[in-house]
Amino acid sequence: MNRPKLVRFGVSLEGDLLRRFDSYIGAEGYDNRSKAIADLIRKEFVTDAFAKGGAVAGAVTIVYDHHKREVVNKLLDMQHDHGNIIISTQHVHLDHDNCLEIIAVKGPGAKVKALADSLKAVKGVKHSTLSVTSAGK
Ligand code: NI
Repeated sequence: MNRPKLVRFGVSLEGDLLRRFDSYIGAEGYDNRSKAIADLIRKEFVTDAFAKGGAVAGAVTIVYDHHKREVVNKLLDMQHDHGNIIISTQHVHLDHDNCLEIIAVKGPGAKVKALADSLKAVKGVKHSTLSVTSAGK
């Protein structure tokens, strides 16, 4: 794949804001401003796409008690019903009582959020998070 052509541009900021930015990106591990600014812009685009229902990718992570068989069946049924946005599921047996599932998703932000919300609401699910990232476009 060809690397996209980089374009230089000038930015004017208040000195104090720039110092805070440099301190922030230093703490985040960036060694130059360009990558930090590009990442912040992409992060805004992901947030915007998610809010407007545009395409996003992400991971729904859930922890549940696997002794409650009705939870397991419900979660499986829901995943089969959302095969169009679920691209992979990884199941980990956390300990004797608990299972962890990482469900990789890709699709419109609203559908991804609806799936994450409905998984979270299943009785027996102890914790759930949705991490949203770029679909790569
Ligand atoms: Ni398990």
